[in-house]
Amino acid sequence: MLNGPNLNLLGTREPDVYGHATLDQIEHQLREQAEAIGITLDCRQSNAEHQLIDWVHEARTTHVDFILINPGAYTHTSIALRDALAGVAIPFIEIHLSNIHAREAFRQHSYLADIATGVICGFGAQGYDFALQAAKQQLSQS
Ligand code: DQA
Repeated sequence: MLNGPNLNLLGTREPDVYGHATLDQIEHQLREQAEAIGITLDCRQSNAEHQLIDWVHEARTTHVDFILINPGAYTHTSIALRDALAGVAIPFIEIHLSNIHAREAFRQHSYLADIATGVICGFGAQGYDFALQAAKQQLSQS
């Protein structure tokens, strides 16, 4: 699971928009859920576009089966992150805590959504749980 810029601030960052859960709490809960369903989950966060891209590349060499990603603001700006995800051809789910379609116009376009397996947004921290369940289902179908 990859989380992009400013998501390290969850818990204190605009809680009315992003909720009160910290990234540590979200990751902890997701690791427990993953373990319970037999998935090995590696959680990483970076504020740097190049770091996220390097991790996507690394995922291919380490044979990662599925990527869960909240790209933060890079969703709306990063052709480079899109190219990385397309380049490694690993299925991924795009996650947003907030409903980006009910927010500013500049958040309503994603450079990643059309090449994602699916997009989950607007369910707060629970969106990560839904994404993990969906990934599990996708993997068991393939
Ligand atoms: C976000 C939505 C983005 O528009 C924003 O830049 C974020 C968080 C979300 O989880 O709702 O950083 O990805």
